[in-house]
Amino acid sequence: MNQDQLKQMVGEAAKDEVLKLPAGQILGIGTGSTANCFIDALAPHKDHFVGTVSSSNATTERLLKHGFKVLDPNLVQSLPAYVDGADEIDPAGNMIKGGGGALTREKIIASMAKQFICICDSSKQVAVLGNFALPVEIIPLAKGVVTKELERLGGKVTLRLAKSTRADLNQTPSEPFVTDNGGWILDIAGLSITDPVKLESQINQIAGVITVGLFAKEKADVLLVSNATGVSRLTFS
Ligand code: A5P
Repeated sequence: MNQDQLKQMVGEAAKDEVLKLPAGQILGIGTGSTANCFIDALAPHKDHFVGTVSSSNATTERLLKHGFKVLDPNLVQSLPAYVDGADEIDPAGNMIKGGGGALTREKIIASMAKQFICICDSSKQVAVLGNFALPVEIIPLAKGVVTKELERLGGKVTLRLAKSTRADLNQTPSEPFVTDNGGWILDIAGLSITDPVKLESQINQIAGVITVGLFAKEKADVLLVSNATGVSRLTFS
C-alpha cells in the first residue's frame, strides 16, 4: 500500500468519525494532502454540517468546489471539532505542523475547536519531535532578528523559498514563500524537542514571530493513524 492510499484510508476514517457528531454544526477543516483526502471523502455527506471554517485559501478553494459552505471564523461561536494532518506527532499528541505553510490559520481554527482530530499515516509518528524542520511564520522585516534568536535554540534556520517543498528544500534560491497572511517562514532543522510546551511558548515570545508550528497547547485530542493493516484510533488526555 502506498502513502496516497494510506492518506485516503485515514481520510475515510475521519469522515466516519465526524459523521458521529450531531448534525447541524460547523466543522473546522485543515490543510494538506491528508486533509484533502478527508474533504473529498466528506463531500457526499456535506449536508451533515451547516458549514465549515477553513485553515487556508487552498482548503477554501477545495471546499467551495465540492459545494461546502465556508464561513468567516469571526462569525462562528463554537466548533465541535477541527480535522487536520500533521508533519510529526509524538506519543503525547504534540505535533509539528506547517509543512504546507498554513500553520497560523491552522492554530487559530484549532484553538476554536472542542477537539483536534489529527489524521495521518504512521510515518508521521515519532518518539521525539524535531526530525521534521520546525516552521515559524514571521513578519518579513523581522527575518534577521528572529533568525538570530532562533539560532540560539541550536538548530539550523533556513528561509523557506517559494518553490521549496519538503522534498526540495535545497532547491535553487528563488523568492521567499509567502503565506496566506503575507508572512514568511523560517524552518528550523536539527532540533530535538523534548519539552514542546516550553519551546512553543519561548518561540511565541520572540518579537516578529507570528506563529510557531509547534502544536503543544493545541495538541491533538484524537489521532486516527493508518498503516498497512488499517486505521487505529488513539486518544490523548
Ligand atoms: C499545512 O500547513 C500542514 O500543517 C499540514 O497539515 C501538514 O504539513 C501535513 O500535510 P500532509 O497531510 O500533506 O502531509
